[in-house]
Amino acid sequence: MAHKALYRKWRPEKFEDLIGQEPIVTTLKSQMQSRQIAHAYLFTGTRGTGKTSTAKVFAKAVNCENPVDSNPCNQCETCIGITEERIMDVMEIDAASNNGVENIREIRENVKYHPSKGKYKVYIIDEVHMLSQGAFNALLKTLEEPPEHVIFILATTEPRKIPATILSRCQRYDFKPVSIENIQKRLIFILEAMNIEYEQEALRIISVSAEGALRDALSILEQSIHWEENRLTTKGVVDTLGIVPEEQLFETIEALGKGELEKALEVLERGGKDGKDVAHFTKDLIQYLRKLLMAKVGVELEQFSTMPADFLNRLKAQSQALSSNWITENLEGLSELEGKMKWMGQPRILLEVFMVQICRKTGSKESGASLEIEELINRIEKLEKMTARNTEVSGTPEERPGERPQSVSKPQIKSAPAIKAESNPSSNAPLGEAKPREDQKSAENPEARPKTVQPSQSVDREKIQQHWQDILQTLKQEKKAQLEALLKEASILGSDKGHLILGFEKGFGFHREALDKKEKKSQITEVIQRLTGQSVGLKLIMKGEQELPRDPSTDLEKRLTETLPESLIEFRDD
Ligand SMILES: Nc1ncnc2c1ncn2[C@@H]1O[C@H](COP(=O)(O)OP(=O)(O)OP(=O)(O)O)[C@@H](O)[C@H]1O
Ligand SMILES: [Mg+2]
Ligand SMILES: [Zn+2]
Repeated sequence: MAHKALYRKWRPEKFEDLIGQEPIVTTLKSQMQSRQIAHAYLFTGTRGTGKTSTAKVFAKAVNCENPVDSNPCNQCETCIGITEERIMDVMEIDAASNNGVENIREIRENVKYHPSKGKYKVYIIDEVHMLSQGAFNALLKTLEEPPEHVIFILATTEPRKIPATILSRCQRYDFKPVSIENIQKRLIFILEAMNIEYEQEALRIISVSAEGALRDALSILEQSIHWEENRLTTKGVVDTLGIVPEEQLFETIEALGKGELEKALEVLERGGKDGKDVAHFTKDLIQYLRKLLMAKVGVELEQFSTMPADFLNRLKAQSQALSSNWITENLEGLSELEGKMKWMGQPRILLEVFMVQICRKTGSKESGASLEIEELINRIEKLEKMTARNTEVSGTPEERPGERPQSVSKPQIKSAPAIKAESNPSSNAPLGEAKPREDQKSAENPEARPKTVQPSQSVDREKIQQHWQDILQTLKQEKKAQLEALLKEASILGSDKGHLILGFEKGFGFHREALDKKEKKSQITEVIQRLTGQSVGLKLIMKGEQELPRDPSTDLEKRLTETLPESLIEFRDD
């Protein structure tokens, strides 16, 4: 069908078709004019921004028989041959599936021969970061002394994975995410060329959702058009993306901000949201809160300029009515919740409980709230049973790093004595966790931490200091790069009762807060233990800040609100 694969149909054929990459286009064209073409280029940048397209246009342009203003004519035999992939002078190699030494050796054999038709043999190696070490070495040899007639174009979304030896031999071009405005312009251009009617709001949503990737924008567009009617509607886009209409997000936040639990739950209910939708809903709420926060602090997000004025005004008014604290806290809370949803299932209950918490904090004494809580407790009980079962079949939490169901499967957690137990540290097992915490006194019930050793009373700080770089490196390698990035800003200040004290400089409060989560800290302490054999807790403080004596009541509150099911204790208690 004519409308299939818009992104293919609208693949740029000349430099001028490339949107938003003007500096790159200008440089490449001027190199052609002055005949100063390099032998190796590296095209980097986020997905769908035109790297491969540019490489193809360039490959054709340098070989075209009658270039027009440094553009390929797309009509000569060479141009057509390249487009139809008949002429082997331009080779596209997908390194994701051809990443071995032998693949690159083949190229090395091949480069010796002169081009059959054009002036240059061009090798476009896509996803080049996927090459094996051996393949990179082989490639390096060719790049060290490339034949005159050869051009390499390496494309990747992950330049950091390319060895420095290769990088240093390439001219590097960074492709920018395409701006919302430019995406919108390109979509309009295509829609008009295809004679398709469209709603402005539909375009806006696509352009924002594509997050700078034009290819994504075209795919969304393609799936959203009602082809029978030749129309693009907002509803079509919303359905395609499975996103929540902004109106609904607005209402949800409005209700939560006022502590109107029932109202918030009703909005959630309205969409009849199942598990998948709830995850989407959460994601959209996060995005929405981010916008609110930016509006609140006066940052003009790019997308604000494309929003309908009335909606932007409402958003701004809403942001003014809420405190920055409220917005930030819930933004963080929801982000954490989003992560939990991935391994806990039952996302709906998680979100509902979260909403309950927000409304409680907001101080609502809504009559309906307590009823809802009873209902939620029932649901949570079911959830716990399920989680417990899942844990049995899929291994203990310790065996699944990063997936700690915490104490959800412990039946005691809702019993009232668990709260009282807080005043008696030796019996706080129900609230215990696998890793030591800053607020746990030394006398802990060992059963709460089945596989971990007690925090050593004295911390061998020197040893940890010696291994510090390894610890950071390990976190990074184990795909906890974010943790590593945050932890990098901390330095070891000392130790206290089995806890390592890490200090952050002024201005890095965000880093400290982001790390000061039970789950994050236990991931770090796990690595510390592995590398130094020491089981320690972590205390994160701001440098120069005095450690204040703890107020046990706030401590309890904090602990209770840290994991969702535990938080129900609090609800039962009043
Ligand atoms: N800058 C751009 N200008 C015009 N069209 C673009 C641009 N970027 C992407 N497109 C559209 O998206 C499609 C895919 O782009 P392309 O393959 O060049 O992206 P890429 O940067 O190589 O992406 P990836 O990193 O996923 O390989 C193109 O066929 C084109 O329709
Ligand atoms: Mg590509
Ligand atoms: Zn040509």
